[in-house]
Amino acid sequence: MQTIVDEFKDKTLVITGGTGSFGSTVLKHFLTSDLKEIRIISRDEKKQDWMRHTLQAQYPEYAGKVQFYVGDVRNLESVRDVMYGANYVFHAAALKEVPSCEFFPIEAVKTNIIGTEVLMDASLKYGVKRYHQVSTDEVYGDLPLEATDSFFTESTPLHTSSPYSASKASADLLVMAYHRTFGLNMTITRCSNNYGPYQFPEKLIPLMINNARHDKFLPVYGQGLNVRDWLHVYDHCAGIDLVMRNGRNGEVYNIGGHNERHNIDVVKTILKELDKPETLITYVTDRKGHDLRYAIDPTKIETELGWKPKYTFETGIRETIKWYMDNQEWMDDVTSGDYMKYYEEMYSKK
Ligand code: TYD
Repeated sequence: MQTIVDEFKDKTLVITGGTGSFGSTVLKHFLTSDLKEIRIISRDEKKQDWMRHTLQAQYPEYAGKVQFYVGDVRNLESVRDVMYGANYVFHAAALKEVPSCEFFPIEAVKTNIIGTEVLMDASLKYGVKRYHQVSTDEVYGDLPLEATDSFFTESTPLHTSSPYSASKASADLLVMAYHRTFGLNMTITRCSNNYGPYQFPEKLIPLMINNARHDKFLPVYGQGLNVRDWLHVYDHCAGIDLVMRNGRNGEVYNIGGHNERHNIDVVKTILKELDKPETLITYVTDRKGHDLRYAIDPTKIETELGWKPKYTFETGIRETIKWYMDNQEWMDDVTSGDYMKYYEEMYSKK
């Protein structure tokens, strides 16, 4: 097997989207590795300042390893400095916002597709050793609710439902094309729904925990019967780490922990854990084009790279709820200001 194991030693890694909820968790994962330098590029100077302070406070001995660059991945000029001398690129920056994508997909298209193209161009130009694309199981579309023995494998055809997932699938195809045409050394991971600390409350689990703690209604789309396959973000980071180091050049790896749950069951678990009544559940108008069921087959990453999730959903959700309850200040901070405007727009008409 072609391997690049242990090559992180004294190397420089660029992380895009490193100030976002997932990117910042990835950053912390790699912080204690043998990398010499980690460079973060993002558009948001305020978030970069916050990350700088967090790293100083939580990881004072490693904070000096991280350099921040203000830049836009859609613009080759603005990524030049961060890419110069880089050995690895980890592209996590993406625009999600499914609800607004239904109406204004152009921003997601530009960021997710053009941003990928620009970073790959720069990777080739600066001789990057490996380019890693963070993708999603949403590129496969959805599975029927009743077909509980069907799963997404790496050879499942791409069949997207939303402008967001179409833009992510387009980016994946571009990455494969750069590999074939220009010899870009690349890997792609497609993961199932993440949960864990520092997720913003536009996602199901933190939103429900936050609403339950304030005794606010819990907006469940449709009948709550859609199925998601939950993966703890730390298990996701461990999988990506393995793929970046040891994954075969040109390959896609699915990451998922066989933790399928109906949304309504996840919501009830949260209420039970917080000792709140189920009367808080409110069924609201379903999401447009709502994917029915996601379920990952992780056989390839398990057998080729020895990845195994550490968390069961039961232990992970309990630990996650506790984290949000212990970090209410963080949640209060991210739910102040613009969040309330977003929340009102999202849920007032439902
Ligand atoms: P979400 O966390 O937004 O992730 P994704 O859209 O990537 O799956 O949603 C997870 C599931 O929870 C999805 O089926 C939609 C549902 N959901 C609700 O029922 N109510 C909500 O308020 C949210 C945010 C999601």
